[in-house]
Parts: sequence; structure tokens; C-alpha cells
Amino acid sequence: MTLNKTKIIHTLSKLLDQQNLNRIRDTVKDFKTNAAKLPSDKKGFFNIGSNGNTIKVSSKYLMGELDQILDTKTIERTKYYIRRLVRALSESKTSKINDLNLHRWKEYGDIFTDSLWVLDKRGTSGAHSGGYWGNFIPQIPNQLLRRYTKKDEWVLDAFLGSGTTLIESKRLGRNGVGVELLRKVAHSAAKAIEQEDDLFSARTEIIVGDSSSLDFKSELKQRNIKSVQFLIMHPPYWDIIKFSKDKKDLSNAKTMNEFLNLFGKVVDATYPVLDKGRYFAVVIGDKYSGGNWIPLGFYTMQEVLKRGYSLKSIIIKNFDETKGKRNQKELWRYRALVGGFYIFKHEYIFLFKKE
Ligand SMILES: C[S@@+](CC[C@H](N)C(=O)[O-])C[C@H]1O[C@@H](n2cnc3c(N)ncnc32)[C@H](O)[C@@H]1O
Repeated sequence: MTLNKTKIIHTLSKLLDQQNLNRIRDTVKDFKTNAAKLPSDKKGFFNIGSNGNTIKVSSKYLMGELDQILDTKTIERTKYYIRRLVRALSESKTSKINDLNLHRWKEYGDIFTDSLWVLDKRGTSGAHSGGYWGNFIPQIPNQLLRRYTKKDEWVLDAFLGSGTTLIESKRLGRNGVGVELLRKVAHSAAKAIEQEDDLFSARTEIIVGDSSSLDFKSELKQRNIKSVQFLIMHPPYWDIIKFSKDKKDLSNAKTMNEFLNLFGKVVDATYPVLDKGRYFAVVIGDKYSGGNWIPLGFYTMQEVLKRGYSLKSIIIKNFDETKGKRNQKELWRYRALVGGFYIFKHEYIFLFKKE
């Protein structure tokens, strides 16, 4: 909801001079009633047209804060919560790596802080089509960008694919640069990104090239970009999905070592353009080969650690509901029971920091 900032801060601040707890409570109750019945807002808390000085808050957060004030038994405690609400509505406290207002942290109920991400469905808002085989769901870049970037900062995705990261960057007012080996794929990503509303005038740059040998510094310089503040990579999971016949495509690596070697080169090539103190996410899964579980995710993580990044989180994310036919799913379940193995249902998001 949008509040008249001057009015609400003035009213709440005046309560701090009040010595009668019941009077304070009456005003807060009155405010709650007004909030619940917006159209009959006689006090003008929500009368945003009056002076244009507004503030946006989630109604769940505001109601929670007001309830906390009303639930308190002493005047000292009541004033403590009022003071806290005034501060939350009037000041912003952000860290160096994102725009989250820490005075209002309770408002960010939809931002994950646990290492297990269970997501039922792909996000469908925006220009995401979901049609590219091997893409990731928009919630992944959405969550990461909100936690690890500020508005107007630069995000680099070294394996652009269908452009999920850059669509999300544009939606959130972050500038995005993406590298994709396949011209056709890069072209359709550009088209999809173009369709996303440009609410914040964010810049988008797409480079067709091989991320394992690209001179990122000079490519960015040519585009007047000094450095990036967040790096994300969603490489092929070695040969699980073949993206092309191109030798430089990581999905065509002949052996796992060759895959890891190429991936390591991408990590080396991008290292100089990421600002110190900023974050790098790798999204990858494991694979089976010859009946054995190959911990591709952990081997890949190791390549990053070798290069001096520090590990901040290992997030386990479930897979999308598989589109496979029911009898095929049952066949796999039968095979798993017979063969003594487990069916993949998760992948990893490794989070690193450049110290
Ligand atoms: C797993 S997909 C990325 C999907 C992307 N996250 C999305 O949501 O659409 C990996 C992409 O990396 C590209 N790729 C493979 N080798 C590459 C290389 N050496 N340089 C740049 N891109 C490469 C593939 O063509 C493919 O589009």
C-alpha cells in the first residue's frame, strides 16, 4: 500500500510525546481501521494526492508492526515499537551489496535465506518463455539479483542461453551483459529481452562469443562498462544436453576433465571484471555415467575455489516438475528400485565471493 509519508510519520512521532497509553492505543487502532478500509480513510493517511510525499509498504508488514505496538503492555515498550516503525518508514539502511532496507527486513518475506530452495513452478511474469531446453527458472536470478546487486549495477552472465538472467536484470533495474556462443540463441535472447518492459532504462549488452577465451576486460571497455558487480554462470552440465556441434561449446567436451578445464578458463577470464567484495553464483547439477553418480557440481565448485574465491553457500534447489509422461516416471521409479539408485531431483547454486 502507498502511505502519505509526512502524515503518518508526523502522527506516529506525536505519539511519542503522549503519556497516556490508552490514548496511544486509540490512535494506533484508528490507524489500523483506516488501513483496513482504505476508501473511508478520513484521516488522510492514505490520501496520497495531498502532497505527493509517499512511501510504499506491504500491508502485511504494516499490520504486523501495528499489532506488535498494540500487543505491548507498557508505555516504554509501546514507544520503543513506535520509534522503530517511524525509523523504518523514514530512514533506509542498506548494505554495500543490495538495496534491501534493513530497517524493514520483515517486509522481504519472499526473499530466501535458507539453503534449500523448493520451487513448484516457473515464474511466468515478464518476457520469459521457458521454451529453451536447458534454461533455468527466473526465480533463480530474481532471488540472487535482489540479494547481491543494487539498482543500476552491472550483472554478467557468461552462459546467456535464452536470456533469463538479463530479462530479470531489466525487470529489476540492473544493467546486464550476457555472453552466448551460439549466434542464433543469442539473437532470440536479445528479442525476448527487448520485449520486457523497460521501466528503469536498464542497459543490456549481448556478446556472441566463447566465454573461455573472451577478453572480458576489453569487451566491457568497448561498451563503456568498467566492471561488473555480480557474476552468474549456468554452464552446460557437461554433456547432459548438447547445445550444438561447436567444439568450443562446453557440452561437447570429450571428457569431464576437458569440461572442467574449459569451465576453469571461463572463471579465469571473468575474474578481472568482477569487483572485489562482490558475489559469483554457479548453477549446475550432477550426472550419472556408467551407472555411477558423478558429482559434477562439486568438481565444478572446486574449479572456482582453486582460483581464490571463497565459498559462501551451497544451495540445493529442486528440479521443476518433470514434463515426462506418467508411465515413463513409473519406469524410472521401477529402474531405481531394481538398480539401487536415486533419481535426480536437485541441482546446486554455489555462491562465492571475490575477497
Ligand atoms: C545451461 S545453458 C544456459 C541457460 C540460461 N541460464 C537460460 O536460462 O536460458 C548453457 C548455455 O551456454 C552456452 N555455451 C556453451 N559453451 C559456451 C561457451 N564456450 N561460451 C559461451 N556460451 C557457451 C550454450 O549454448 C547454452 O546456451
